[in-house]
Amino acid sequence: MTPPLTASPAWQALQAHATALRNQHLRDLFAADAQRGERYTLQAAGIYLDYSKQRITDETLRLLLALADEAGLRQRIDAMFAGERINTTEHRAVLHVALRAPRGADIRVDGVNVVPEVHAVLDRMAAFAERVRSGAWLGHGGQRIRNVVNIGIGGSDLGPVMAYEALRHYSARELQFRFVSNVDGTDFAEAVHDLDAGETLFIVSSKTFTTLETMTNAHSARDWALAHFSGDVSAVAKHFVAVSTNAEAVSKFGIATDNMFGFWDWVGGRYSMDSAIGLSTMLAVGPAHFRAMLAGFHEMDEHFRSAPFAQNMPVLMGLLTVLYADFFDAQTQAVLPYEQYLKRFPAYLQQLTMESNGKHVTLAGAHVDYDTSPVYWGEPGTNGQHSFYQLIHQGTRLIPCDFIGFGKSLNPLGRHHDMLLANVFAQGQALAFGKTADEVRAEGTPEVLVPHRVFEGNRPSNTLLLDVLTPAALGKLVALYEHSVFTQAAVWRINAFDQWGVELGKVLAQRIIPQLEADSEPALAHDSSTNALIRRYRQMKGA
Ligand code: F6P
Repeated sequence: MTPPLTASPAWQALQAHATALRNQHLRDLFAADAQRGERYTLQAAGIYLDYSKQRITDETLRLLLALADEAGLRQRIDAMFAGERINTTEHRAVLHVALRAPRGADIRVDGVNVVPEVHAVLDRMAAFAERVRSGAWLGHGGQRIRNVVNIGIGGSDLGPVMAYEALRHYSARELQFRFVSNVDGTDFAEAVHDLDAGETLFIVSSKTFTTLETMTNAHSARDWALAHFSGDVSAVAKHFVAVSTNAEAVSKFGIATDNMFGFWDWVGGRYSMDSAIGLSTMLAVGPAHFRAMLAGFHEMDEHFRSAPFAQNMPVLMGLLTVLYADFFDAQTQAVLPYEQYLKRFPAYLQQLTMESNGKHVTLAGAHVDYDTSPVYWGEPGTNGQHSFYQLIHQGTRLIPCDFIGFGKSLNPLGRHHDMLLANVFAQGQALAFGKTADEVRAEGTPEVLVPHRVFEGNRPSNTLLLDVLTPAALGKLVALYEHSVFTQAAVWRINAFDQWGVELGKVLAQRIIPQLEADSEPALAHDSSTNALIRRYRQMKGA
C-alpha cells in the first residue's frame, strides 16, 4: 500500500529540509551566489520566468522534483494526454488539451479521435462569427447585430469575460460585449439597460444548460427580447444562440440546434474558455486571433508534456505553490498582472485554482492531513500597491506573489510603460530584500520610527515576463496556470476536476426558493437561524 503523502520519503525529506530553509534569508542566498538571478530562470513558450526570489536552494529544487516523481506526475500527465478517465469521481476524461490540438492531431477518448470534432465546431463557430462580424447575420427586424451579451456563470462566464478584457485591443470596436452572470436581476437589467433588442445577440453559455443563474437570466433575456418583437417567438432564432453539451435542454429552451455550438463532457467548466464557450471571444477578436490563442495554449501544452521537470515551467510553479502551502504555512497566493488588460485574470484564476484544488480528500477518499490549494487573489498593478501591498510587505502573513509583466505596451504612451515595469521590478526587489534597521537608521530616521520603517524582506515572488499581450500570449499564460494546478493536484493526490463542494448550497437554495415565494406562511423545518432569516425576509418583502 502507498504510504500517506506526509509519510512518504520525499515529503519527509522536504519537511526536514524546510526547517532549515525557513531560517535562510533571500539576502544571504543572493549574496552567496552572484549568478542566482540568472541561474533560477527559465524560458518556455516565449515566457521568461525568474524564480530566483523564491526561498529555495538547489537542494530544495532537488527535493521538490523528487516529490513530483514520487507523486507519479509523469504518469498523471501521460494519462491526461492519453484521454484516460482521470476525473474518477465523475468517470470522465480530462482533455482540455484536445481543444487546442492542431488539425490533424490524434487524441483519443475510448478509441475515438476527438480532434476532428473539435475542429468541426471551431469551423462552425468561425463561420458564424464571420457572419455576425461582417453584418451578414441580421436580427429579426433586419438590423445588424451591434451588441453581444454572454449569459453564463463560473467557467461559462469568467473565461469569456477575462479573455474579452484581455484581448480588447484586438476586438471589433463596433460590437459591444456585455456579460451577465449573477442571478441578481440587477446584473441583467444593467447589462441591457441601454441596448436595442433588435440589434442584440444573446449567447446562452452553459455546459449543463440547467444552471439556476444562467437559465433564470436566459429566460429574462428571452422575455426582454420578445417584448421588443411583440411576442413573436420566431425572433429567438436570430437573437439567441447556445453553447452547451446538452442539446435536448437547448432545444427545449427554443434555440434550434443549428444555433447551438457544442462541446464535450471531457471539458471541465473552468477549463472551457478555449472551447465553444469562447464564442464571445471569437466574435470579439475574430477567428484568426482565436486560433492564434489556441496555438499559444498548445505551445504551453507541448512544453508541459515534454520538458524535463527541472525545466518545466508549470511543474516548477506548481511545486513552489506546494512548498509554500505545506512547508511555509502560506494561506494565500497573490497574482499581480502589471497589464491593465489582464484586470480580470485574478478573478478567472480563482475559479481555475480553487474550484480545482480546494479539496479535502484524496482520490482514494481519505481525508488529507496537509493543506491543499491556497486562496488565490490579486489585482492589476499598480493599483494593488496603493491598497493591500502594505500587508504583503509588512504584515504577519507570508504571501507568495506572481508578478506578470510585458516587454511592450499595446498602448505606448510617453513614459507610462517604463514606470509600470519599474514598479514590477521594484516590488519584487523590496519584497525579497527589504530594508534592515541599520539601513533605516542610516537614512536619519528617528529611533522611535525605526521599527515601523523596517522591511523584513524574505517575501518570495516569481516574475513572469512576456513580450506583448497577444492572443497567443494569453493562451500560453492560461495553460501555464492550468498545468500548474494539475501539478499541485498530482502531488496532493486530489481530483482537480470535480467540484462537489458547490452542490450543497445549490440543493439547499432549491429548497428555500419555494418557501420565499409561497403565498401563505410555509412550514419551516430548518435550523432556527435559517427559519428566522426566511421569516424576516418574507416580512421585509411584504409577503
Ligand atoms: O459552480 C459550479 C459550476 O458547475 C462550475 O464548475 C461551472 O463552471 C459553472 O457551475 C457553470 O456551469 P454550467 O456551464 O453548466 O452552467
